[in-house]
Amino acid sequence: PMVSSEFRTAYHFQPSRYWMNDPNAPMYYKGLYHFFYQHNPDGPLWTANISWGHSVSTDLIHWTALELALTPSRPFDISGCWSGSATILPGDKPVIVYTGLDTVSREVQNVAYPKDLSDPFLRQWTKPDYNPIIVPFEGIDVTLFRDPSTAWQGKDGLWRLIVGTVMNGDGKAILYRSHDFATWVRAEDPLHFTNGSGMWECVDFVPLGEWEGVTKYLLKVSMYNALHDHYTLGTYDEERDVFVGDDASSNDYRMWPRVDYGSIYASKTFFDGAKQRRIWWGWSNESDSAADDLAKGWAGIQAVPRVFTLDRTDGKRLIQWPVEELESLRREKITMKNIELRTGSLVEVRGLSVSQADVEVEFELPSFVGAETFDENWIVDPPKLCREKGAYGNGGVGPFGLLVLAADSLEENTAVFFRVFRADQGYKVLMCADQRRSSKRNELYKPASGGFVDVDIKKDGKISLRTLIDHSVVESFGGGGRTVITSRVYPTLLLKGNTHVYAFNYGTETVKISELNAWNMSQAQIS
Ligand code: FRU
Repeated sequence: PMVSSEFRTAYHFQPSRYWMNDPNAPMYYKGLYHFFYQHNPDGPLWTANISWGHSVSTDLIHWTALELALTPSRPFDISGCWSGSATILPGDKPVIVYTGLDTVSREVQNVAYPKDLSDPFLRQWTKPDYNPIIVPFEGIDVTLFRDPSTAWQGKDGLWRLIVGTVMNGDGKAILYRSHDFATWVRAEDPLHFTNGSGMWECVDFVPLGEWEGVTKYLLKVSMYNALHDHYTLGTYDEERDVFVGDDASSNDYRMWPRVDYGSIYASKTFFDGAKQRRIWWGWSNESDSAADDLAKGWAGIQAVPRVFTLDRTDGKRLIQWPVEELESLRREKITMKNIELRTGSLVEVRGLSVSQADVEVEFELPSFVGAETFDENWIVDPPKLCREKGAYGNGGVGPFGLLVLAADSLEENTAVFFRVFRADQGYKVLMCADQRRSSKRNELYKPASGGFVDVDIKKDGKISLRTLIDHSVVESFGGGGRTVITSRVYPTLLLKGNTHVYAFNYGTETVKISELNAWNMSQAQIS
C-alpha cells in the first residue's frame, strides 16, 4: 500500500475519515443544503451495518460536518441504514424514506422525521414506531428490494415513490402510493422495467425540463450487474402511472446512455428551490485496493455536484455541468488563445499548481479529411475502442485533448481526449479518459474509459472539454456536458509535487485551440 495525504481531495466532498458510499437524501431546506451519505463511522471499508453521515452547506462547496443522522437502532434497521431520499412535504416539512435491514436482514423501507423543526441543521431524526412502512412483497428476494426515491404528488393528491428490485432477472421500479406518507399501497404495474437488466439500485425519477410543451422525465437506474449508472428520457403517463420512453431504447437497458462513463455509482438528484435547478450527486469509489484504503484511513469521494438540464437544441439528451458555485474557488487564471496543434504537438499549460485545477478548452477542427472510418460494430463498446486506439498516435482527426497529472517524461499521465470517425451517417465523436499510464503502481484499477459524444461535429466545427483535477480525481465534461467521465488516479509523482498539464494532438489533421482558460483551485472547507 501507498499512503499519502496527497490523494485526499481539496474540493470534492469527503468525510474527515473512513468509508463513504452513496449520496443520500440531498435537499435544500430553509437556506441550507443538506447532504447525507452512506458512512462507516468505524473504519475505511464498507459494512452492511452502515450509518448516515450528515453535512450542511450554504453553497454546495464548503461544508460543516454534523453528527450521524441515522444509525442502526431499531428492529426495522438494526442491521443497517441503507440508501434513501428526502421529500419536502407541504408546510415545509422534510421527511426521509430509507432502506433498513431488519433483524433478519430483510430490506424494508422506513420513514424518519426531524425531531425538532426549529433546528435549522436538522441534527436529530426520529424513526416512528409504525415503521417499516413498506416490506418486501410475495415473489421477490427480500435482500433485493431497496433505495426508495424522493416522492412526488399526483393530481389525485396521493404521494408516490419507487423502490428498486429485480424479478426473474428483470430490473424494476416498483411504484407505491400513499395519502399520509405512513400507509403505502403497491401499484399493480411497476413505473418501468427492462428485461434482463438485473437488480436496479438507487432509482431516480424526476422531471428534467420542458420540450415542445411536454415535460420530459429522466429515469436513472444504478445497474447492479455492471455497477454503472444509466439513464433514459421519456414522459410520465399520469393516467396509467407509468414511465413512457421517448423511443424503443428506453425498453432496452443496453442502449441507455451512462450518466458518467468513469467511476461513478449510486447517484441521485434533488430540486434546489433556492436557484430553481436540479442538482445531481454521485459517489466516486476508489480505484486502489482495500489494503490501500486501510492504510489511507479513508475511501470514497463525491463528484462535484452537477446541474442537470435537458439539451435545449432538440430535447433529446441530458446536459451535466458543475454547479456554478465551484467557480468561487478559481484563483490564478491562465489563458491561451489561437494555438495551432499540428500533428505531434504537446503544449504545456504553464503556471498551474496542477493537482488542483479547472481547465476549459475549446478545440476547433478545420479539417475532417483525415478522419478514420468508423466500423458500426464499435458502437457497443467505446471503452474497447479507447483501449485499442489509445491517446498517443495513429489517428486522423484526433486523438487530441489534455494530458493531466503528467510527469515531464509522460511516464505517468491521465489522457483525456477525443477521436473523430467518419461513419455512414455523419461523424462519430469518441471521448476517452485513459488511466492506464496514470500511475506506475501495478496493483491499481487503471482502465481506459469512454463514451460517444452526441454532437454534430461537422456542423459545429469545434468541441469543448472541461477537466477538473483534484489530487486523485480527474472529472471531464465533453461537448458542453453531453458526455462525462470521472477517473480515480494515484500518480506516484504527485508525492513529489511535480506534475503538468499539456494539450496535445496526435492526429494527422491540425487542430486549433481557439481558447483555453485554466485556474488554480483553492481548497474548500469540507471536514
Ligand atoms: C449502492 C448500494 C445501495 C444500498 C447501499 C448500501 O451502492 O448497494 O443499493 O442501499 O449501497 O450501502
